[in-house]
Amino acid sequence: MRLLPVLEGLHSAEAFNPGFLRAFLERTRALEAGPAEFQDALAGRVIATVFEEPSTRTRLSFESAALRLGAGVISVADPKTSSAVKGESLRDTARIVSGYSDLIVWRHPRDGASRLAAQAAQVPVINGGDGRIGHPTQTLLDLYTLYREWGDLAGRTVGLMGDLRNGRTARSLAWGLALLEARVLQLPAPGLAWEASFEQRIADRAGYALRHVRHPLFRTWTGEETARVLEPRLATQGWLFGDGVPLLERLDALYLTRLQEERGAAPRDGVYPGLRPAHLADPLLEQCLLLHPLPRRQELPEELDEDPRARYFEQARNGVLARQALYLAMLRAERWPLPELTPLPAGHPDAELGVCPNPNCITRAEGIPVPWRVAGKVQRLFLCAYCDALLPVDYAGCRSTLRLHPLHSPSVARIHPENLRPFRAREAAQRQGYTWSEA
Ligand code: CP
Repeated sequence: MRLLPVLEGLHSAEAFNPGFLRAFLERTRALEAGPAEFQDALAGRVIATVFEEPSTRTRLSFESAALRLGAGVISVADPKTSSAVKGESLRDTARIVSGYSDLIVWRHPRDGASRLAAQAAQVPVINGGDGRIGHPTQTLLDLYTLYREWGDLAGRTVGLMGDLRNGRTARSLAWGLALLEARVLQLPAPGLAWEASFEQRIADRAGYALRHVRHPLFRTWTGEETARVLEPRLATQGWLFGDGVPLLERLDALYLTRLQEERGAAPRDGVYPGLRPAHLADPLLEQCLLLHPLPRRQELPEELDEDPRARYFEQARNGVLARQALYLAMLRAERWPLPELTPLPAGHPDAELGVCPNPNCITRAEGIPVPWRVAGKVQRLFLCAYCDALLPVDYAGCRSTLRLHPLHSPSVARIHPENLRPFRAREAAQRQGYTWSEA
């Protein structure tokens, strides 16, 4: 069974779907319950770990997972020792490492690096964290940690706290939680919230709606008493008849994250949310599991480590199991298959769109045109197919009728995504034979 027919491998949590995630969680539990069945499952295989950013947990747990399944491991643990420092492109590196291995785990500072590497590689690529946008295997171990506690995640409320804008673990986890019908409470540091287009993509894909809830602790953490929560649309309808912003009475898990200083992040007024021992006495957190992808800073003091709600060290340990389950699905699918992921399109390169607006996009580093893809149902969004940045598009054309519309006109929502073409300027569209339609 192939994973991701267009971009071979696992690059984004957006590629998950409920069937894949549920089967994955069950497989990981089987691995935990009976590791002997899987011993030597990857004998004779070679896994390459190429880490162009520092890592303790991700690289070592991927390597441990490979060794426990009988595979060999080759590694670039320090980017200063690879030929990237001599100016070798990501695409060339991917081609070369493909010749030495059966699967590559890649960590890279640039947004979208994993998808580009996958297009050049001849073996599957797994994203071990790229830039600000994705860390999908962290999500798999995060979800497994919650699944071990609760079984079904549906209806649970999970708060994501800290640097949501720059933190790839929280971004990826938001997809996983929404696809398993959990509520996603956002507790960002001031000025470090997600952009609206990211929220919209999750809401569209999962059938979710946005609403607000309040709690006095939120003010302590974020400076605001209200917080945004993404939840199944039907759950939101039940609240429409209430007055004002409802009080959140119970949080099932809190996922803390550190400030991503290496990406230039700085919270407004220097305020950064974190837990203090006194917060744990609040009824909101009575049953609340505490998770953190680690490494931690001041947001998670060591005094909390012995609290019975703390799960972050167990969470890190689960990384080996989760990564074993993924290797089996990708390299031994004939024996241990998982349902297919939802393909992310490779996108359409278009010189008219210029460069990607995201200065950290891999297309900028590699000097290649930005390919676009379509997201959104009610309101169409054109995104960079590598880094998911919202492209500055004001018009959309229909390839079959050659009519051009303002991007936010209702007509655009009715055009099949395959027939859409983005334009920044009307003149560019008219040069291509499109005729203007106000509607
Ligand atoms: N959680 C995580 O990605 O940790 P590392 O940076 O140590 O891999």
